[in-house]
Amino acid sequence: MRRYVVTGGCGFIGCNLVRLLLAEEPECRVRVYDALTYAGDLRNLADVVEDVRLEVVQGDVNDPQALAQTLYGADAVYHLAAESHNDRAVLDPWTTWHTNADGALRVLLAARDADVERVLYVSTDEVYGESVDERAFKESDPLNPRGPYPASKAAADRLAYALHVAYGLPVIIARPTNNYGPYQFPEKLIPVMVHRALHDQPLPLYGRGQQVRDFLHVEDCCRGLRLLMEKGKVGEAYNLPGENEHQNIEVARAVLEELGKPESLIRFVQDRPGHDTRYLVDGARIHALGWLATVPWEEGLRTTIRWYCDNRDWLDYMVQKGKDFADRWYADRQ
Ligand code: NAD
Ligand code: TYD
Repeated sequence: MRRYVVTGGCGFIGCNLVRLLLAEEPECRVRVYDALTYAGDLRNLADVVEDVRLEVVQGDVNDPQALAQTLYGADAVYHLAAESHNDRAVLDPWTTWHTNADGALRVLLAARDADVERVLYVSTDEVYGESVDERAFKESDPLNPRGPYPASKAAADRLAYALHVAYGLPVIIARPTNNYGPYQFPEKLIPVMVHRALHDQPLPLYGRGQQVRDFLHVEDCCRGLRLLMEKGKVGEAYNLPGENEHQNIEVARAVLEELGKPESLIRFVQDRPGHDTRYLVDGARIHALGWLATVPWEEGLRTTIRWYCDNRDWLDYMVQKGKDFADRWYADRQ
């Protein structure tokens, strides 16, 4: 029986990972540790919360006592808790830094002290910085983050490695590309576009909407995280590319088409400061372990849009939770 702790298990990727662990490992125990910030919500686990194998502990990654209690007896830790939004990090870099860098150090040290067998730190492809040519970043490339969010993630990514070197912490580092799928907080591109289109509101595209992201379905990502937990080499980092690049404007058009809404809803708005044009990462290292992104984009996008349509209460409730920030952010971009 494997006892997992999943930090950030009430967030987007976390709740999908918890579901996958419960589905794939009948004997496991999963303890979620989550501060339930605006982005984390028990509703994200509503369909599994009665499962006796699951326990949810509300706590902050910067609370060492609560972390020590939570990690006591754990075999493995997935560390996902973070402030995950670039735009919020631009407005409030301190909160982002405190959770993502200080908090990660707390979790990593707690994992060392609890003597866990494995820790998986979920970093991001954004740590390499912007891609300026066709060469995909390899894990051995230098990190060159350009915004407060990726800088905080890069700090934690290298702290994880440093604690492996210093204390032999059995940590593995995952660097996935932009995830999409059910339960993503509607401050990220796809759920923002779906929500706005459903309400016949303008779809705000930063700049001319020509930036490119490599979209990875969250189910593929979570399968990759599990594989790395089992087969990843400690101390190593692994890119998880979706190999599915699209311009933001193409994504907005696809959402409008799926929902039968006119393209005239698209609005070009003031760009995000320091907006990275593209991230391109090489997947050879994780491919060698037998992982590939498998969800086809057209199907993944369609089912994702349908999920938001079928869960309008969830979507409207989450938009309401993020409203203060969104009002402030988009008001400045008109
Ligand atoms: P999310 O914002 O949906 O969820 C983050 C979760 O962390 C929430 O449940 C929140 O309550 C919790 N949290 C925030 N601050 C906390 C704190 N101080 N203490 C405890 N819990 C706290 O984020 P996500 O999209 O699920 O991302 C999960 C992880 O994956 C993050 O580390 C993120 O940097 C990384 N990542 C995300 C993507 C993506 O496209 N979503 C891509 C690459 C990497
Ligand atoms: P986002 O989902 O915030 O993820 P990330 O910043 O981690 O890539 O943004 C994805 C892309 O979509 C990014 O290029 C910014 C752009 N974007 C918009 O054009 N309009 C929006 O309203 C949002 C939220 C994002």
